[in-house]
Amino acid sequence: MSDNQNTPGQDVAARDTAAHPERFEDPGVPAHRSRLTDVDPQAAKRNERLIALIFGISCVGAIASVVVYFAVRPDGTTAGTRLSTALLGVTMAISLLGIGIAAIHWAKSLMSDHEHVDERHTLASSPEVRQVAVQHLADGVEDSGIARRGVLKGAAVSALALFPLTFAVPLISSVGGDWNVSKFRHTLWERNKRLAYDPTGRPIRAADLTVGSAAHVIPEASQEEMQSHEWITEKAKAVVLLVRLNPEDLRSDQSPEGETWSYDGIVAYSKICTHVGCPVALYEQQTHHLLCPCHQSTFDMADGAKVVFGPANRPLPQLPITVDDEGYLVAQDDFAEPIGPSYWERLK
Ligand code: FES
Repeated sequence: MSDNQNTPGQDVAARDTAAHPERFEDPGVPAHRSRLTDVDPQAAKRNERLIALIFGISCVGAIASVVVYFAVRPDGTTAGTRLSTALLGVTMAISLLGIGIAAIHWAKSLMSDHEHVDERHTLASSPEVRQVAVQHLADGVEDSGIARRGVLKGAAVSALALFPLTFAVPLISSVGGDWNVSKFRHTLWERNKRLAYDPTGRPIRAADLTVGSAAHVIPEASQEEMQSHEWITEKAKAVVLLVRLNPEDLRSDQSPEGETWSYDGIVAYSKICTHVGCPVALYEQQTHHLLCPCHQSTFDMADGAKVVFGPANRPLPQLPITVDDEGYLVAQDDFAEPIGPSYWERLK
């Protein structure tokens, strides 16, 4: 199409505007401007080499991610896990970004950028129009030059073929891993275990808490215990949010008939959301609502931590508490049900 001719769409728009003058005029497609790669074969060749290079970088990223997966395993320390995760993320990103950038650059610099206008139809297109569409697709493939540019074709196919390795290898190698979820049924809490502030480990007296206050709580442990890797891992399951309500506002807790799991308006609930396990920690004092920041599940702390909004489908498990002879808050027992997302409960 020459730069001075109307596109078919503009012709239709002109006729439409004449018949319905109240409608605004279609500004049409801007005049076509040739790119450097359209008029300079050397420039096209340079771009072709550049695109092949980017696909090559993607291949290197995919291979590097597989190497990193096996060579840099998490060693159980936080630093080791971070390093392994960061390297995997970077190499996967290089692999995927390489494909994306090369494909975009190929489309923008080498594939035909001539405007094609397709008329709109209210119902299914006629067989003739469909035939034309198929022909357009074939022309597009021809325009892309994929058949002529063997190097690019090979580079693109290699990058696309290798990228799935970045997630397939970790997935396959995780078959047979530790999927025993029964460990989520038990936590560090046990009878007479004191409640302590997170992260200092200082035990909490009932008298320390004023009405309306909230505290992040862990099981009491010695400083030495708190440094051990096992304790830190187990602590993640035992974290609790402690809230003191006016006893008159407390409508219910989760205790069986005749018992109570709260103490003088103080209630303790698992901080691990029953939706997919985010830490719920946004407490709204006026409404007694506890909000999960991930998907906005909201739990009523005055009413057994029942779900009042959001995708979670069961209340937060309650930690039964009381006080010992010295006035410190202690657990009556472990949680009565599994903490965390509900599917753990079903997989016991
Ligand atoms: S993890 Fe809490 S609402 Fe989704």
